[in-house]
Amino acid sequence: MAKSPQKYTTLTLLILLTISSLILSLTTAYDYTFSRSLSPKKKLGLKQEKLTHLHFYFHDIVSGQNPTDVEVAQAPTANASAVLSFGYVAVVDDTLTAGPELTSKKIGSAQGIFVSTSQSDIELSVVLNYVFTEGKYNGSSLSILGHNLILTTGRELPIVGGSGLFGFARGNAQLRTYMFSPTISNDATVEYNVYVWHY
Ligand SMILES: *[C@@H]1O[C@H](CO)[C@@H](O)[C@H](O)[C@H]1NC(C)=O
Ligand SMILES: *[C@@H]1O[C@H](CO)[C@@H](O)[C@H](O)[C@H]1NC(C)=O
Repeated sequence: MAKSPQKYTTLTLLILLTISSLILSLTTAYDYTFSRSLSPKKKLGLKQEKLTHLHFYFHDIVSGQNPTDVEVAQAPTANASAVLSFGYVAVVDDTLTAGPELTSKKIGSAQGIFVSTSQSDIELSVVLNYVFTEGKYNGSSLSILGHNLILTTGRELPIVGGSGLFGFARGNAQLRTYMFSPTISNDATVEYNVYVWHY
């Protein structure tokens, strides 16, 4: 059965319309603005930047029934006698306390990953979120991304950001090993002095 000329006309019209709208969409450059300058105070309520000092202890538990630091992967070439084998990956949810004892007041957790990324040093690249659960910082967090030479005395980690009261944060965390006795277990307690700029 032959199609009616009427149908052909409609089809041709439809095709022409599609082609012309395609050409139009390709040639029209829409001017979407994706950046602009703002007043931090007026738009986001960001006033004077201030410096806060936080002092707490970090408990890394690898031993026992309830470790807070668990190895999840290692390289096929892992050296069993090395302290930290290159390629080692662990996931942590370490407790943060106000005092040096694990039984002292819990103020938050450090959650993230440890990866051994050095072939020559006993070092961990860390990606951690310090989530606070006490006082005015309850619900706020700090993000730390850094290079941790775990056996070195004075070491520091950069604070690359935060959330809640620590929105737009930046700063520095100074670490000192408070307790580590590899002959007993590989658990460690680390003292933190954190200096953070935030609003
Ligand atoms: C494995 O680690 C031990 C202890 O650090 C080291 O003495 C040894 O040379 C390492 N072996 C290899 C093949 O890298
Ligand atoms: C922290 O905030 C959570 C959620 O709002 C709340 O359930 C909890 O009781 C708060 N903790 C303290 C110690 O204020």
